[in-house]
Amino acid sequence: MDSIIVTGGAELKGQIPIAGAKNACLALMPATLLSDEPLTLTNAPRLSDIKTMTVLLESLGAEVRSMQEGRVLAMSSHDLTNLTADYDIVRKMRASNLVLGPLLARAGRAVVSLPGGCAIGARPMDIHVSGLEALGAEIELKDGYLHAEARKGLKGAVIEQRFASVGATENIVMAATLARGTTVLKNAAREPEIVDLVRCLRAMGAQIEGEGTSTIEVQGVDRLHGATHAVVADRIEMGTYMIAPAIAGGEIELVGGSMDLLPAFCEKLEGTGISVTPTANGLKVARSNGRARAIDVRTEIFPGFPTDLQAQMMALLCTANGTSVLEETIFENRFMHAPELVRMGAEIDVHGGHATVTGVERLRGARVMATDLRASVSLILAGLGAEGETVVSRVYHLDRGYERVEEKLSAVGARIERVRGE
Ligand code: EPZ
Repeated sequence: MDSIIVTGGAELKGQIPIAGAKNACLALMPATLLSDEPLTLTNAPRLSDIKTMTVLLESLGAEVRSMQEGRVLAMSSHDLTNLTADYDIVRKMRASNLVLGPLLARAGRAVVSLPGGCAIGARPMDIHVSGLEALGAEIELKDGYLHAEARKGLKGAVIEQRFASVGATENIVMAATLARGTTVLKNAAREPEIVDLVRCLRAMGAQIEGEGTSTIEVQGVDRLHGATHAVVADRIEMGTYMIAPAIAGGEIELVGGSMDLLPAFCEKLEGTGISVTPTANGLKVARSNGRARAIDVRTEIFPGFPTDLQAQMMALLCTANGTSVLEETIFENRFMHAPELVRMGAEIDVHGGHATVTGVERLRGARVMATDLRASVSLILAGLGAEGETVVSRVYHLDRGYERVEEKLSAVGARIERVRGE
């Protein structure tokens, strides 16, 4: 297995291009299942999770051609030859469950393995299931698989989600595009990835209003057609690289980024004393005068502070001046990076959904590893400011969501390299 070695202490300067969003692309790709005409995505990120979704779609009978070194994905689902999303694919990547709504809407039937728990929490699928049942699907759990059927087709309904789940919103909206009549989804997720999905569905002929608000209305249509859609910028990649100069010092321009994608995060980062300014190409982040200041953070649904940036923010707060409290409200077990940061000399006390971080002057490099994507990248960020060498193992987590992390960071002056393992 590969490792990444970071030698701390180098100031950063330059530009980092922001890729298309993993979490938008993982919802956009299954949208191909809704139509027998081609769907082409441009600005796709080059990540192992995208390859996993490709394998899943191909297993269902879709064709996926990766062009321009993976930047363009040309998909076609003319014939669906299989309606089962196998456990061996779903267990690798939870977002595989996003084929459920589209398959059900197009083919009237779908069998999708229940993902099971993952490192950050139990992550059940009850909100997806009850939303699709409200649209007329009958769903039963058998042998670890959700067997879903809509014998008389799907029918629009008024649905109120008990929580604004991102994945459930995506599944329900995709299913509703081909349902008879009107669906009103209340307490819908408002994340930019939902807005991006709706824009793509609309380009395919869907009639949808209200994306980006908590009520989405979908007027079902008989069929969707082909389209070409550019994937929105990855706000979590952007936020991750915004933390890099905040920890290491220096100034970075995030090309293709935008402050609108991360309103609460930008505000918090500025609260620590880091400057964030819009530029013609994106935005610029700079730390010039000494240590960051401590600040309290609570993760929330959009437009609040994203859970997917909590670990990276913690890495910054480890060396901030003062004591910070981070509260994680979205996932029940998302502080696995804390004990690893403690190995680097951080002072962190985790108590339930809270972590109290008392800033120290400097962290020290160590051998560390993490069990999920964002936790892994937080250790790299911590290493950028630490004394000596930090060796991050289990890098396959990183490759799921960060394209060429070591190349992007070394291009702005970080001392970072990948060591290939067997
Ligand atoms: C999406 O996951 C993202 N993944 C996650 O990104 C992100 O952390 C999360 O949204 C929150 O922003 C993709 O978009 C592919 P949820 P999703 O359904 O859709 C509970 C990353 O690092 N819940 O909004 O699975 C659930 O257990 C990742 O890129 C139910 O209880 O998130 C969790 O506590 C990790 N029942 C909360 O809601 C359900 O039916 C939020 O989950 C569904 C969810």
